[in-house]
Amino acid sequence: MENLASIRNLKSCVGQTVTLRGWVYNKRSSGKIRFLLLRDGSGIVQIVFVKNNVPEGTFEALDLLTQESSVIVTGKVREDARAKGGVELDGLKVETLQIAQEYPIGPKEHGPDFLLSNRHLWLRSTRPHAILQIRSRFVKAVRDFFDGDGFTLVDTPIFTPAACEGTTNLFETDYFGEKAYLSQSGQLYAEAASKAFGKVYCFGPTFRAEKSKTRRHLTEFWMIEPEVAFNDLEDNMKLAERFLEYTIQTVLKDCAEQLALLERDTTKLQNVRAPFPRISYNEAIDLLKQKGVPTEWGNDFGSPEETALAEHFDRPVFVHRFPAKIKAFYMKPDPTDPSLALGVDCLAPEGYGEIIGGGQREESYEALLQRLHEHGLAEANFDWYLDLRKYGSVPSAGFGLGVERTVAWICGLDHLREAAAFPRMIHRIKP
Ligand code: 4AD
Ligand code: MG
Repeated sequence: MENLASIRNLKSCVGQTVTLRGWVYNKRSSGKIRFLLLRDGSGIVQIVFVKNNVPEGTFEALDLLTQESSVIVTGKVREDARAKGGVELDGLKVETLQIAQEYPIGPKEHGPDFLLSNRHLWLRSTRPHAILQIRSRFVKAVRDFFDGDGFTLVDTPIFTPAACEGTTNLFETDYFGEKAYLSQSGQLYAEAASKAFGKVYCFGPTFRAEKSKTRRHLTEFWMIEPEVAFNDLEDNMKLAERFLEYTIQTVLKDCAEQLALLERDTTKLQNVRAPFPRISYNEAIDLLKQKGVPTEWGNDFGSPEETALAEHFDRPVFVHRFPAKIKAFYMKPDPTDPSLALGVDCLAPEGYGEIIGGGQREESYEALLQRLHEHGLAEANFDWYLDLRKYGSVPSAGFGLGVERTVAWICGLDHLREAAAFPRMIHRIKP
């Protein structure tokens, strides 16, 4: 068998003859030399073919290759200080698998609509490639953090009989003649699991029929949701800041190359260290007034308020104790002022806004039942959730972090859609 290699590892193969499998990224020729830029998913490398060193027919085959043609190339690895990965190949042999038709994505600028319609091909370009590698590394860091901290992963269902986060943005499906909804959040199930395992997290796709077109909303996004029995609001913030510090710093360390490709200035990300500042909603209202972004008490914060608040701090900030009437039914009211809920959002700097939403749950059966009624939610759909308050109810807290929002922030993206491989938005479901 030939010495199969991947471009990422070529540095350790200097002097060896290796075989690479991939796609033509670019090519050039000059007299008796052909330069082939090959990408294999792990990187890009230049292969130099010299007429006298290769079998007959090789140049003819090389000259037929188009951008994205698939090939198997054999060559000898040589150190080259000028090359990006520090190595080049002296080409010995090329085998063509398929000659690609004229590839629609070239070096010229393309509009976002065109690129999104060609997302299945666009993924091969260096920018999406870097972003999705960062996402992959971030997700691994997320799992490593919770797995290493005594959490059990419990996957929660996607078909659900009831709403977790209000009824305005539910996706309804026909479930054998009954109504079912795509999950907006795994939280209610994670709460049940936390009474079985203590510390749990769920991680999966969640769905919201967001009818407005914004840079911060997708209709399908991935959410990581830890839930911990016996935790209160303060414990929840401590967990969230420790978690963000670990995951962000890990990505900065391991994805320096990808972040450089994106030309991301990481100075502010280096600051993501616990503890984060904490301000109450009431304090936030005062701060917004000072900053000339007056907001009426009782309103939820939108993008302008979140950006203004986050600008005031050098790292992510927690805003806690929101007006209860703008928060979900399951939030526990603040015992010292029941008009406030023990909820918390974490706002990212640089205009990225809310990346985490969570809080302490109502643990009393009677209070939860009353909240369900106030929110016009059918008790029958939540009987199992109410059970958790009947059989050994304890304080409980957790949060949800949106993966695309966080990746957009890490990468410095203008829009969330680039943080998903195949983003789902109000006007886009293809490819
Ligand atoms: O604040 P949210 O709605 O909180 C919950 O769903 C809780 N049940 C979580 C919990 O306590 N277990 O959503 C959590 C996070 C937001 O902070 C945001 O990062 C992300 O999910 N998010 C979205 N991301 C992309 N597109 C959307 N339409 C999003 N809606 C929320
Ligand atoms: Mg929220």
